[in-house]
Amino acid sequence: MTSARVRFVVFALVLATASLVVGTQVVRPRTAPPIHPITGRQIAGIATDAGWLDRRERETEEDPERALDLIGVTPGMSVADVGAGSGYMTVRIARRVGVTGRVYAEDIQPALLSRLQDKATVEQLTNIEPVLGTEDDARLPPNTMDLVLLVDVYHEFWQPQSMLRSLRRTLKAGGRLILMEYRKEDPTIPIAATHKMSVADARTEVTAEGFTFDRVISGLPRQHIIVFRQN
Ligand SMILES: C[S@@+](CC[C@H](N)C(=O)[O-])C[C@H]1O[C@@H](n2cnc3c(N)ncnc32)[C@H](O)[C@@H]1O
Repeated sequence: MTSARVRFVVFALVLATASLVVGTQVVRPRTAPPIHPITGRQIAGIATDAGWLDRRERETEEDPERALDLIGVTPGMSVADVGAGSGYMTVRIARRVGVTGRVYAEDIQPALLSRLQDKATVEQLTNIEPVLGTEDDARLPPNTMDLVLLVDVYHEFWQPQSMLRSLRRTLKAGGRLILMEYRKEDPTIPIAATHKMSVADARTEVTAEGFTFDRVISGLPRQHIIVFRQN
């Protein structure tokens, strides 16, 4: 073999090896949810079934209007419904904040956001702004929200630390970040453990990203409302 031919073969081998490394380390998507790096909590898979999110039984299981009473959603507020899904809570929030308020309905699944927009059209709600986020960034406007609400969502964040940092950016000073989650402390609540959150894990993970713990509000059939503040 001539030396030019040897150089060509070596070059081709290096290129093939490099593309293999890129193929395995960068391009390959993650297939399983990770664990939280601080608490070791197993993060859940992502819900995709709009029919399940809109199931009639949620009225008794979650009592959504009472939840919003307890949280305190009032006319004129700017609220981010993060992980809004098919808009089960978004439309209820939109009715409460009224024409002087605004709901930013954010999710990473375009099909769910499209279903949410259909609901807004049917209900003639003009104060809802759909936002397509990414796994690590909600892509919401900075320093805008009075309240960021996560209903049955936080346990699904595959990159919780970067998501929380992006939520801090969108909250006004003194604004509230609220996690509504099925109570992990209660083993009789019939839902998979990865789809529940304990107050202890939520406090550890959320305060580590610079939020201040405020309080836990009880009064719902199966969930707790865990309140944090932007400093
Ligand atoms: C169990 S559903 C709850 C939907 C809605 N909050 C409700 O109460 O009907 C969880 C939602 O979180 C969304 N989600 C998961 N990870 C997310 C992320 N990193 N950023 C935004 N949304 C996310 C999912 O796409 C899904 O719509």
